[in-house]
Amino acid sequence: MYQLTQDVIDSFSKIENERQKHLITTLAAKLHEYIEDVQLSQNEWEMAIDFLTRTGQMCHGQRQEYILLSDVMGISMLVDEINHHQHEKQTPSTVFGPFFIPEMPVRDYGASIVEHADTETEQLPLLITGRVVDPDLNPIQNAKIEIWQTAENGMYSGQDAAQQLGNLRGIFYSQAQGEYAIQSIIPVSYQIPSDGPVGELLNFSKRHFWRPAHIHFMITAENHHRLVTHLFLKDDPYLESDTVFGVKDALIVDYQRCEYSAEMEQKFNIDSAYYKVDYQFVLAKEQA
Ligand code: BEZ
Ligand code: FE
Repeated sequence: MYQLTQDVIDSFSKIENERQKHLITTLAAKLHEYIEDVQLSQNEWEMAIDFLTRTGQMCHGQRQEYILLSDVMGISMLVDEINHHQHEKQTPSTVFGPFFIPEMPVRDYGASIVEHADTETEQLPLLITGRVVDPDLNPIQNAKIEIWQTAENGMYSGQDAAQQLGNLRGIFYSQAQGEYAIQSIIPVSYQIPSDGPVGELLNFSKRHFWRPAHIHFMITAENHHRLVTHLFLKDDPYLESDTVFGVKDALIVDYQRCEYSAEMEQKFNIDSAYYKVDYQFVLAKEQA
């Protein structure tokens, strides 16, 4: 270790909070070690500063290029691995991504999140039903279920001026037995944004931009750990090579085509054939 590295570490010795001191001194030590290992050139240092500067400049209201960078570097999923030790029975978590928007419309049990129907392709509805439960399978009532997905063009509302902000987004609350029912459309695989520094990095590395089709869920309930996850669709060609490394087997679901039934029309206002997915979300309990 260079004396310089030790001097930098020592310069942080007055940080009072032990955790904060540990974070910053370890970061300094590891960064110095990396730079020494690769013998970073002046030119490479300038390129790195330029890349990080442009990454920051790309960020604004609905665009978070740093989260995207964390995602394609596998850092988001590593933080997820470390913090969400997989309790056997619990639904696995996955990457949050940069496209969540808070305070979206609260919708009734069984309502649709489609506000902006694509007129070119007539799509059958997708009905997602199931229960929110704890690891002992006790129902969790009044769990807040926030959901978001892309439209058929592979874009989220907020990314795409043609969509109302609430399109394919919404908040649902679970019922007395933990039940939920949400209508949507079958999600599509889509490419993450490629017009910024992260796009340059993936192009340069000959990596693709695709994420397998999925629907995002964030589920919050009193006395339980928040669950941030997706449901992925079986048979998607990108399940094995998600560009942000987010796929977990327990989150891959099959969907079934069901024919029109008067019962479903009466119950959920579904007046055609439809697709159906059933999924039980299991939330971990907070330690008392
Ligand atoms: C998403 O699934 O919305 C997402 C996740 C990581 C990077 C980009 C998009
Ligand atoms: Fe997504």
